[in-house]
Amino acid sequence: MAGDVTKRTQVRIWDLPTRLFHWLLVFAVIVEAKTGFFGPANSLDWHVWAGYAIAALLAGRLIWGLYGSEYSRADRLFSALRHLPEHIGGLLRLKPKHYAGHNPAGSLMILGLILVLLALVATGLVVLGGTEKQGLLAGITPYDVAHLAKGAHQVLAYSLMAMVVGHLVGVATEMLLLRVPLIRGMITGWLPKAPHAASEILRPARPMLAALSIAFSALVVTAVALPLSTHKGLGVPAPVSNVLYVKECGACHWSFHPSLLPRKSWALIMGSLDQHFGEDASLSAEAVKEISTYLDANAAETADTEPANRLRGVSEAEPMRITATPFWRHQHDELPPQVFRSAKIKSKANCAACHRDALTGRFDDQNIDIPDTSKAGETQ
Ligand code: HEC
Ligand code: HEC
Repeated sequence: MAGDVTKRTQVRIWDLPTRLFHWLLVFAVIVEAKTGFFGPANSLDWHVWAGYAIAALLAGRLIWGLYGSEYSRADRLFSALRHLPEHIGGLLRLKPKHYAGHNPAGSLMILGLILVLLALVATGLVVLGGTEKQGLLAGITPYDVAHLAKGAHQVLAYSLMAMVVGHLVGVATEMLLLRVPLIRGMITGWLPKAPHAASEILRPARPMLAALSIAFSALVVTAVALPLSTHKGLGVPAPVSNVLYVKECGACHWSFHPSLLPRKSWALIMGSLDQHFGEDASLSAEAVKEISTYLDANAAETADTEPANRLRGVSEAEPMRITATPFWRHQHDELPPQVFRSAKIKSKANCAACHRDALTGRFDDQNIDIPDTSKAGETQ
C-alpha cells in the first residue's frame, strides 16, 4: 500500500483551517458523547462548553466553505453530489473512482453531519434554556417546549453516532479499495493525486475575507447574545424565604422548597400535621395559616423549573411525598440505598445534602455534590 502511494504525485488537498476544524470537531464530539450519554450529571458545564465550541467551529467552517482553498469550498460538496449514482455504482462493483477531495458519498455524509450538528446545537440551547434555565435562551424558553426539544436532541444524538460510524466505514472502504491514506491526508493535508482527475483551475484560499467574515459574525453573535444573557430564567422561583416556615418545618428535616410539591399536596400536609409521617408536627392555627398561605403562593404550579414541572406528578398512593414521585425515583435510582442512610445524609428527603442549591429550588446539575460516604465509620 505504502509503495503504491509514494510513487504517485502528492497534491495538497486539505488546507490547515480545514484540518484543524476536522480534528477539533472530533475532539468536541467525543466530549459531547461522553458527557451526554454517560454523565455524570454534574459534567453539564463540559457538555455545554463543548456545544458552544461546536457551534463556533461550524460557523467558522461554513465561512471557510466560502473562502477556503478549492477542496474546502462548499460548492464542491454540491457539485460532487451530481456524481453520486456513478460513485455508488462503482462502490457496488468494489471499483469506486478516485475523486480529489470529498468523494460524492462522502459529500452527502458531510452535508448530513453538518445539518445534524446544527440541529443538535439548536435543540441543545433550547433544552438548556427551558429545563435547566441556563444559557442564552433561559429567559424565553418554557419547560414544555424544552421537554419536546430534549426528545429531538436525543434522537439527533443517536443519529449523529450512527452517521459517525457511517463516516468511518466510508473512510475505511476508500482506504482499502483505493489505497488512499485518508487519515494521514487529514493530518498532513497531502494526498496522492487522483489518476484521472481532469486538470482544473484550483481556487486559492481568501484568508482576509474569511477573517473579516468571522469577525463580523462574532460581532453579530455578541450583539444578540449579550442582551439575552442578562434575562432572568423564565419561571425560576424565589429561594425559600418565609422565616416561620423555615423555623417550624425545618425543625426535623430540611425545609423543602415550596415549588417541589403541588398545591393539593401542601394542603394535605398542612391539614394532617398531627399525623405527619408518624410524628406529631402540630402547630398553632395562626402558624398553620401563615405557612399554608406561603406554600400555596409558591407551590409547583407557580414555577417553571424542571423539578416544579415534574414533581407535580405526585404519586397517587403517597401524594405528600416528593421522594415517592416517579420523577424523583427515576432521577435517583442509580444511587445505592445505603447512601441515603449514611451519617452525612440520613434520609432521602435531605435534598440539601447532595444539592448545594436546594434552597433556591433550581436543582442545577452543576450543583450536585454527593458527600463522600465511603469512609469507614460514616455509615450508621
Ligand atoms: C416533628 C418533626 C417534623 C416536623 C416539625 C415536620 N416534619 Fe415533615 N416529616 C417528618 C418526618 C419524620 C418525615 C418523614 C421523613 C422520611 O421518611 O425520611 C417527614 C416528611 C415530610 C415530607 C415528605 C418528604 C419526602 O419524603 O418526600 C414533607 C413534604 C414534609 N415532611 C413537610 C413538612 C412541612 C411542610 C412541615 C411544617 C409544617 C413539616 N414537614 C414539619 C417530620 C417532621
Ligand atoms: C444522596 C444524594 C442525593 C439526595 C439526598 C437527593 N438527590 Fe437529587 N440527585 C442526586 C443525583 C446524583 C442526581 C443526578 C442523577 C443523574 O441525572 O444522574 C440528582 C438529580 C436530581 C434532580 C434532577 C436534576 C436535573 O436537572 O437533571 C432533581 C430535580 C433532584 N435530584 C431533586 C432532589 C430532591 C427534591 C431531593 C430531596 C427530596 C433530592 N434530589 C435528594 C443526588 C441526590
